[in-house]
Amino acid sequence: MMVYMGDESFWNDKFGCRSDRPLNPEEAIVENLKYFKNGTVLDIACGDGRNSLFLLEKGFKVKGVDFSTKALLRLEKFAARNNYEIETELIDLSEDDALKNIGVFDDVLVNHFRVSKSIMHDLKNHLSHGGVLFVSGFGHKHKPDLKIRKEDLIQPDDFEPLKNDFELLHYEEFKDERGFFVTYIYRKN
Ligand SMILES: C[S@@+](CC[C@H](N)C(=O)[O-])C[C@H]1O[C@@H](n2cnc3c(N)ncnc32)[C@H](O)[C@@H]1O
Repeated sequence: MMVYMGDESFWNDKFGCRSDRPLNPEEAIVENLKYFKNGTVLDIACGDGRNSLFLLEKGFKVKGVDFSTKALLRLEKFAARNNYEIETELIDLSEDDALKNIGVFDDVLVNHFRVSKSIMHDLKNHLSHGGVLFVSGFGHKHKPDLKIRKEDLIQPDDFEPLKNDFELLHYEEFKDERGFFVTYIYRKN
């Protein structure tokens, strides 16, 4: 997968048009917060950080990565407004070794993004013992359209690379007027 929904300029334009306030955090994260391991979170493809901000408020130490400069600047601004400390890094996740030097976290969050097989494979190197991988977004039964393409949909076999080192703690799916959504919560053994 090269990009999710669009390239860098598509996303920079999209974040450039947003209001001066972050959106609400993802409901699936708010509802399943109990599964997160206390400590540090890596928010992958964090965008302008609605979920990072929520986790900061809950006392986690958060690092957000994304390939949109506009998104990261907005996240930094929102965090500063609340006196939160956030670390951000401009990273293109279409590179297989994008996370090579990122370090180890207690949680990795992937919300409304689909990581490549190589990145999924690499994630075990970036989670602490008992660390949690939280993935949520458009799932396999969503009807693709011009915005959300087939290759953007989270598939059950995306998690194949985790099978020897992780345990599935929780799975849920739901459908509403926007489409079909899935949440997978894995713990590293
Ligand atoms: C639908 S948004 C989700 C943002 C955030 N996770 C949330 O839940 O609000 C998808 C994000 O993926 C980022 N993105 C898309 N392709 C990327 C890539 N190749 N590398 C890094 N970030 C990428 C976009 O910039 C955008 O912020």
